[in-house]
Amino acid sequence: LLERASVRLVKHFTRIEARPSVRGGGARVARRFRESGDPFHEDGAPLENALDELFDTLVEPGLEVSSPTNFGAIPSGGLITAAIADLLASATNRFTAIAPSAPPLAELERAVVRTFASWLGMPDGAGGVLTSGGSLANLYAFVAAREANAGALERGVVYTSEEAHHSVLRGARVSGIPAERVRLLPVDASFRLVAPALARAVDDDRARGLLPFLVVANGGTTNTGAVDPLADVSAIARRERLWLHIDAAYGGFFALTARGSEALRGIHEADSVTLDPHKSLFLPFGTGALVVRDPRALERAFGMRGEYLPAASRDAYELCDLSPELSREARGLRVWLPLRVHGVARFRRALDEAHDLACEAARAIAAIEDLEVADSPALSLFAFRIRPERAVSWARAPDVDRINRLFLRALQRRGRVMLTGTRTSRGFFLRVCILSPRTKRKHIDLLLTEVRDTLATVARAMREDAT
Ligand SMILES: Cc1ncc(COP(=O)(O)O)c(C=O)c1O
Repeated sequence: LLERASVRLVKHFTRIEARPSVRGGGARVARRFRESGDPFHEDGAPLENALDELFDTLVEPGLEVSSPTNFGAIPSGGLITAAIADLLASATNRFTAIAPSAPPLAELERAVVRTFASWLGMPDGAGGVLTSGGSLANLYAFVAAREANAGALERGVVYTSEEAHHSVLRGARVSGIPAERVRLLPVDASFRLVAPALARAVDDDRARGLLPFLVVANGGTTNTGAVDPLADVSAIARRERLWLHIDAAYGGFFALTARGSEALRGIHEADSVTLDPHKSLFLPFGTGALVVRDPRALERAFGMRGEYLPAASRDAYELCDLSPELSREARGLRVWLPLRVHGVARFRRALDEAHDLACEAARAIAAIEDLEVADSPALSLFAFRIRPERAVSWARAPDVDRINRLFLRALQRRGRVMLTGTRTSRGFFLRVCILSPRTKRKHIDLLLTEVRDTLATVARAMREDAT
């Protein structure tokens, strides 16, 4: 069975390079699947049939997230070693939630999270948990910060920038902090939180009898890749006794590189940091992490045991006390195996390469007369758009955002590279995120050709339409 599945998998992986990042027909296949009724039979079906259905039909259409020409949203995954680790974890099926049932594997997971903490420069004793992704890590941070601050539920105020990921806002809502007590602070021209505005907002709220307790800074925004001034924010957080959480779901692992750790300067001072190995460690979806300066904060937030569970063992890594999860896969293995096999230096080089390629692409796009780049990439993500003054000169009824949306749709329709767009506080931008270890210079060349050709077509069509 394994052999037959691996033959398909190897074929799948080798084709990622050659195929377009997006393949159409997904809605049709999904409809057919839905309409074909109950997919299961009383007596089962041969594996070969299931593999045919999976590889020829079900996984065929849609976005190839780890494709070298996927520059949209946040690319993810691509390492077959992580898939092998998942197979091993499922097949051996160890229960890591309580340490005594799988002591070494529980320890392995603790080692993974401690390693992440050390990469960020956090002190010994920092720890945390692996989650299924950044959204849950952000939510856990909210709960931990709330539990560490008596009165937060009733009067607590949270500060973040207007560029924060929506999971931060959801984290507030789900942890009981209403939207009226979440301050979305303004950003500067580089989309970075303005530290003095944070200090002023905290003062104002204290004067109104509220309880400022948490600031969430960005270690690489989803919109434009901006990194907030973490050291400045940290100084304010310390002075004002706020819990500092840094959402570095996208950007955190760039701390492995010299330039990344410079961009993320100050990250080690956080009380908690969200990291997504399924983003900047190229692992498959379902791998997030919350790193905390003091793991006892997670115990205080989540620690609770039924009578049917053994008491916590001293000094062991008792996962069930650190998050709301109990039964779950041995998640550490899918981080451990790729890092063991490929070595940390390979990841560092891949991240440096992603940064270099992003800088090159941003420079080339900025050199195109009609385009402007929001800011040069701090990590591997940047945003750009048609210059408002150019867009205005092309169309009869100029709506800059609409023209940029048209530009994006035209690029997507050509189907040779995948880009996505976003609405920022300054309007609509297209985004380029380089985060597949398969992306090389030739893919950037293709991206640039596509951008130039599409721009020429859109500009021509607009001008013709206006005359
Ligand atoms: C900055 C940031 N935070 C949080 C998240 C949410 O992470 P996840 O999709 O792993 O839940 C994302 C996802 O793109 C992100 O970019």
